This record gives sequence, C-alpha cells and structure tokens, in this order.
Amino acid sequence: MTEHETGPEGFAARLAELEAAVRARSTLIPRLGMVLGSGLGDLAALVRDPVVIPFPELPGWPAASAPGHAGRLLLGHIDDLPVACLQGRLHMYEGLGAHQVVEPVLLMHRLGARTLVLTNAAGGVDPSFEAGTLMLLTDHLNLTGRTPLLGPNDDAMGPRFLDLTAVYDPELRSRVRAAAEAEGVPLAEGVYAGLLGPTYETPAEVRMLGVLGAHAVGMSTVMEAIAARWVGMRVVAVSLVTNKGAGISATPLTHDEVLEAANVAGPRLAAVLARSIRELPRDA
Ligand code: HPA
Repeated sequence: MTEHETGPEGFAARLAELEAAVRARSTLIPRLGMVLGSGLGDLAALVRDPVVIPFPELPGWPAASAPGHAGRLLLGHIDDLPVACLQGRLHMYEGLGAHQVVEPVLLMHRLGARTLVLTNAAGGVDPSFEAGTLMLLTDHLNLTGRTPLLGPNDDAMGPRFLDLTAVYDPELRSRVRAAAEAEGVPLAEGVYAGLLGPTYETPAEVRMLGVLGAHAVGMSTVMEAIAARWVGMRVVAVSLVTNKGAGISATPLTHDEVLEAANVAGPRLAAVLARSIRELPRDA
C-alpha cells in the first residue's frame, strides 16, 4: 500500500469509524485538545473525572510503544472546559505512517476541539538551554521528509496547499507567555526541529540544526501541527528540554534521562498550561 492510499482521502472514513467508537463511550464535546509527550503524562491529572480509552480500544490504533507514553485518550474537564487529552502519542519511529500519527489530532477536531495544545520532550540545540528549560514554539523545521497531507486531497477537510506562515498561533502564544509570567515560570521561545528518530542526533547533526535556525530538536509534533492547521485548528506547543543535544552534552543521551527531566520539570509545565487553559476565552 502506498502512503497516499490512506492519506487525506482516507481520513474521512477512518474518522467516522473512530468517532463512532468514542461516542459509544462518551458524549463529551471537547473544546480543546491536548497531546502529552514523553514523561509528561502526569499532566493528565489536570483532567477531572475523565472517560479513559486505551489506544488499542479504538479501531486501528496500536498500543503506545514508547516508554513514558501511557497511550490513552481521555475525555473530561479542566475547570469548566471540556477537553480531549492524549496521554502519550503515536510516532513515526514506531513504524507508523504520517497519516496514522495524526489521526488522534484529527479525531479530537472531529469530536469538537478547535484549539490544540501540543507538548513534547526535546533536546536543546541552543547551547544556553539547560535540562528543564520550557520552550514555547515560535515555528518548526519539518526535517522528517514526511507529511500527513501526501496524496489526493480531501478539499472538504482542508486545502491542498496549506499556508504555514503562522503554525503556532500568535495570540495563543502570548496567552501562554502571560500565564508563565504569572506563574513565575521562565519560558524560552524558539524553533523546534522535528526529525524522524528513533536515534538521537549525532553531534554534527545538532550543530547543523543550530546553523539551520533550530533551538530544540525532537521526534514528534510537526505532523500533528500540520494536520491541525489543515483542518483549521489553532495550535500552540511547548517543548520541555530534557537534555542538551548530543555533543553539547558531554554524556551519552538516554531515554531514562529524558523521562527523569520531564518528571522534574513537568509540574512547572502543568502549572503554565493549567493557567493558560483557565484563561482561554470560552468562545475560542
Ligand atoms: N533529540 C531528539 N529528541 C529528543 C531529545 C534529543 O536530544 N531529547 C528528548 N527528545
């Protein structure tokens, strides 16, 4: 099967199937979707009284294989706001196609979410970033060589040629910035380079990413952000820098280090997101 056979033209049928499976469990109409990255699953505690659906209980979704990813869809409330929250995500390095890893985001949109908050664990490319730095994404470099929009388009869902001038919504960014300031949490800003993984980068690659204008690097987020923009969602994203990039750090990188740093700094990110969401305009 070529990728385009299940690309944009295939989404509508898949989403109808997924929507039906969710609707058998919950009638909640989320206003906001949230994706929690590596080691950030504890942020799901923000979601009150959730209906919890493990990925394999949704048609065609594999169990999340990455350690630190619970692999569950939660439907519940943050304060009074109905939300859908993905605790863990799907990655292309698991062997999934670009069209598959964006299904959760498109499903959240289909269920009602029009705003999307993405989080991820990332390596620092900017040498000033210490482990634990939070970085608001101003833009991204899609260096995966993939796109979820490959193949015949479904014009009813989104445009063939999508403008990516402002993937990360300037208004939402200023709200998150204000929330961080109010929480007393330092928040850096920069460009996220999305790579396929699953290897961490070589030191030469990290140097290259710096030359290209990246401040952080990771293995997720860009496919989801593209798909969300395609269907017209407003997107905001925050990286938790769990380690200095290869070669900036003198020590070898490990996933345990990533999870540990995410656990330490996760509550700061949770505080910022909780306040941002509390102060989101309810008509957004
Ligand atoms: N590189 C890519 N992805 C990552 C890293 C990294 O250094 N740290 C956490 N996710």
